[in-house]
Amino acid sequence: MSTGTGGTYWQGKALPSVFKHDLLRRYIPPFGGMTGTQAQDRRVVYLDGYAGEGRYENGEPGSAEIALQVASYYRSRGLNLSCFFVEQQARSFVRLQQVLRGYQARGVDARAHHGEVNDVLDDVVQRAMGVPLFLFLDPCGLCLPMDRLVDVLAQRRPQRRPATELLMNFSMMAVRRLGGHVRSPKGNEKSLERFDAVCGGRWWREYFTGGSAEEDAAEAVAAEYARRLKQRTGMFVHFVPVAKHPTWKPVYYLVFATRSPYGLWVFGDAVARARSEWWKTLELQEEQEEPDALFSTTSILRPDPSVVEKEAVPIIAANLERLLQSGRAVKLVDHTLELFGQYYGQVTEPAARKAVKYLHSEGKTPSTGIGGDKTRELIVQPPTA
Ligand SMILES: C[S@@+](CC[C@H](N)C(=O)[O-])C[C@H]1O[C@@H](n2cnc3c(N)ncnc32)[C@H](O)[C@@H]1O
Repeated sequence: MSTGTGGTYWQGKALPSVFKHDLLRRYIPPFGGMTGTQAQDRRVVYLDGYAGEGRYENGEPGSAEIALQVASYYRSRGLNLSCFFVEQQARSFVRLQQVLRGYQARGVDARAHHGEVNDVLDDVVQRAMGVPLFLFLDPCGLCLPMDRLVDVLAQRRPQRRPATELLMNFSMMAVRRLGGHVRSPKGNEKSLERFDAVCGGRWWREYFTGGSAEEDAAEAVAAEYARRLKQRTGMFVHFVPVAKHPTWKPVYYLVFATRSPYGLWVFGDAVARARSEWWKTLELQEEQEEPDALFSTTSILRPDPSVVEKEAVPIIAANLERLLQSGRAVKLVDHTLELFGQYYGQVTEPAARKAVKYLHSEGKTPSTGIGGDKTRELIVQPPTA
């Protein structure tokens, strides 16, 4: 199983990375902002465990430089995003170090380790004692064994505060490939065993021994992986599909895990915005590749965000109405997943406020949804009898 980035990977950003990086760029700052007060010295530890080169050859920032930019921004505001980067490939590590030097010279608290993330993880967790910790794990192939993740997330950092969050690449290409090994009499047992460890057992093999189509089996494995991670860590776990093309299957899922209702809320908003960036970049790429085309895939397939929001508002309002049936006031951020339902990660935060206004206009809540706090802080009252 390949673990490196060969060929053209670092020449320029592929579409899945556009989404991944936009999401990181949008989510790391509020994570720092929301959790920075949980440590006395306003320190937040950030680990990019599969950091790569840090910057593309065309100058665009990779995941490491995105974190360094956030750290640099925060430094001037009194928050210390203490960054740890790990990279296994010697050539990539050298380039990563070059990127780091520029930021270290400006006082950013960052260091890089040449080697395996597994060997560094315990040290980083130790250094994050008493402060919030964000783990970004983005391998090209298989991610860390589930027991290892559970050890960090549930055994060593089981508390809500200081916060612990995870964003991890779960490769569907790897799952499909390994499914092929299960089905083939010549399947490589060593690779299968590695994935057993990733999944925390051999359970996933059964999905490929039944009669289901390969893609259905792979999707079922991803869903079951999410369920198990949620069960074993007690965290909210959300899977975000990332694809190369609107009609293709995801190349990977980004697995997000948090214990914070605020994290969940802000992440959903960031996903919807990053999705928009993905479409914009696809459109741009299409224009460059086929400038004379009459119609682009994007113009045909892209869901109009305002139409999606229009559809979403009454559904979110109905979800809210259901929550209010308890007879108690509902603080929006405490019910993110029930509130947004199928539109979580599809629409941005303002859709929730519009839903409150919609419900009010229907006479189903005395709360107007006007003014006041941030949308997520809105407290919506049940209807008066
Ligand atoms: C998908 S790339 C990372 C891309 C980067 N996170 C970004 O978004 O800009 C994965 C990187 O992980 C490195 N790698 C693979 N296995 C590793 C391991 N066990 N520990 C640390 N790095 C590893 C590879 O050499 C490769 O550079």
